[in-house]
Amino acid sequence: MCGIVGYVGPREASRVVVQGLKRLEYRGYDSAGVAVRQVDGRIVIRRDVGKLANLEQLLAQWPLAGQIGMGHTRWATHGAPSQRNAHPHISMNGRIVVVHNGIVENFAGLREELEAEGVQFASDTDTEVIAQLIERYVASGLTLETAVRHTLNQIKGASAVVVMSQDEPDTLYCARLGNAGGITLGVGQGEMFIASDIPAILEYTRHMIFLESRQMARLTATGYQVMDLQGQPLTPTIHAIGWDPVSAEKGEYKHFMQKEIFEQPRALIDTLGGRADFENGRVHLPEMKLTANLAQRLQKIFIVACGTSYYSGLVGKFLIESIARIPVEVEYASEFRYYDPIIDQNTAVLAITQSGETADTLAAMEQAREKGAVLWAIVNAYGSQAMRLADGYIAMQAGPEIGVASTKAFTTSIADQYLLACALGELRGTLSAARLRQLVDDLVQLPNLAGRVLDHDPQYQELASQFFKATDFLFLGRGINYPVALEGALKLKEISYIHAEGYPAGEMKHGPIALIDETMPVVALVTKDALYDKMISQVQQAKARGGIVIALAQEGDAAIQQEADHVIHVPAAPPLLAPIVNVIPLQLLSYHIAVRRGADVDQPRNLAKSVTVE
Ligand code: AGP
Repeated sequence: MCGIVGYVGPREASRVVVQGLKRLEYRGYDSAGVAVRQVDGRIVIRRDVGKLANLEQLLAQWPLAGQIGMGHTRWATHGAPSQRNAHPHISMNGRIVVVHNGIVENFAGLREELEAEGVQFASDTDTEVIAQLIERYVASGLTLETAVRHTLNQIKGASAVVVMSQDEPDTLYCARLGNAGGITLGVGQGEMFIASDIPAILEYTRHMIFLESRQMARLTATGYQVMDLQGQPLTPTIHAIGWDPVSAEKGEYKHFMQKEIFEQPRALIDTLGGRADFENGRVHLPEMKLTANLAQRLQKIFIVACGTSYYSGLVGKFLIESIARIPVEVEYASEFRYYDPIIDQNTAVLAITQSGETADTLAAMEQAREKGAVLWAIVNAYGSQAMRLADGYIAMQAGPEIGVASTKAFTTSIADQYLLACALGELRGTLSAARLRQLVDDLVQLPNLAGRVLDHDPQYQELASQFFKATDFLFLGRGINYPVALEGALKLKEISYIHAEGYPAGEMKHGPIALIDETMPVVALVTKDALYDKMISQVQQAKARGGIVIALAQEGDAAIQQEADHVIHVPAAPPLLAPIVNVIPLQLLSYHIAVRRGADVDQPRNLAKSVTVE
């Protein structure tokens, strides 16, 4: 997933663009570049491989002055990370400059066609085809706007594009095709902004327009025009964004991931706010547009998601089946989109996605829509494609999640599924008023429980110093703690690069126990629930084979001290909310291990915050 920023107005474009790209660097960081129209009319490009800091050094040596420009941080898909493949890309005769997020699926054929006409390419990217095509259309006599539109109608695949040209020196064009990550327009006073994501431009304006697929826009300092790809003008909604700009900054934290772990009590308060009605013991989810008729006729819910959001869905299955008594199947979105799920109008498909832009999840949503399912989403990124595609949604309201490793989105999306289960249960009559009130009352303590876990951060830091050199980890859980084990393993592997597996503890005897030895730390989730005794037995089996066991257990559990090598204590939580509390020590353990290993916590190798390509 790449980051894009554009600007036109009275400010220095180079500064606005680079500051904005800094807030998007989590989206991709193989290379970065910026293009600015100079005061003499020329469009000049500065770009370099590697992190944004390299581009900043370049600009310090050779600054760019001008009031209209655009920039890009790249996560390479076509063409290796290199200076020549870094965006922006310029057409052969230098008239057209482009930055692009997504994939031009038919670029090879288009490139052959253009080369046959004598066009010389300077890079290996699919993006350069866009610049060359526009220039060819302009050379044939079309206006720049028409040339852009023709090109957009010719390229296949999901793309977000920004175009500059010396032919219209005060204008930026941008467009969105499919689900290639958003194009957000920031509406300022006498200035206009373009960004892939809200945090990049939030300090300048809170008034945002989110382009839909197959829409383009023309921007000048004095205004904008949104249109479809046939040139028909459109009147978009201008959204007022409530986030404060500070929330997108690291503040006193060392990493965004650390900040977001510690923001979880606040994020839980925000996601429950206005929805958990503690006074009346009820739940309000107006954006879900639930009705008794719909809730009562539902026969099945599919939950579709990727990565951490998928593990959140595995917890959600327990919540919805236990509270609302609706069968739930949880599927990887990347699998769901390619098999033929049995769906009808009595099926709901719930997508869970922090970014709201994950290509596999969006494709699964579209597959569900085509098959007639009711389409829901639990999303964090306001205005994202998933939020707009769904019939009903719950906004996580966790604030921007910048760190590539998802943390507060996991805990808030579980809380949101709990709320959804309560709302469905009430509408279906599977919940007595007393049970519903109890379930709502149980939420009151949740932010405080999360805060109490965070208070033990020094213990997790110390534990990390003992285990950061391990080469393999095993995370074991049962029941509702099994998805937490999976999530703990994912956190560790994606930021520390240590191989880690989450496993249902009951499965150990069917093979994986052969892995256990003194070099393999085993993290066992042994909180007091119906499967506690089974987990104690698992811990004993691992110890009997020389394993090193780190037990995550309940405060006051003395017995576990006799069984495990190390014990992490967490406060007792209502069983259905325990995953929210139990995951936090695993987030912090992984974070501290990664820091001790000198890993790039917020921008792990090979990863991007939102995977908008297949
Ligand atoms: C989680 O730490 C990872 N960054 C990744 O698995 C992520 O959860 C996944 O790509 C889904 O992203 P989404 O929630 O934005 O759809």
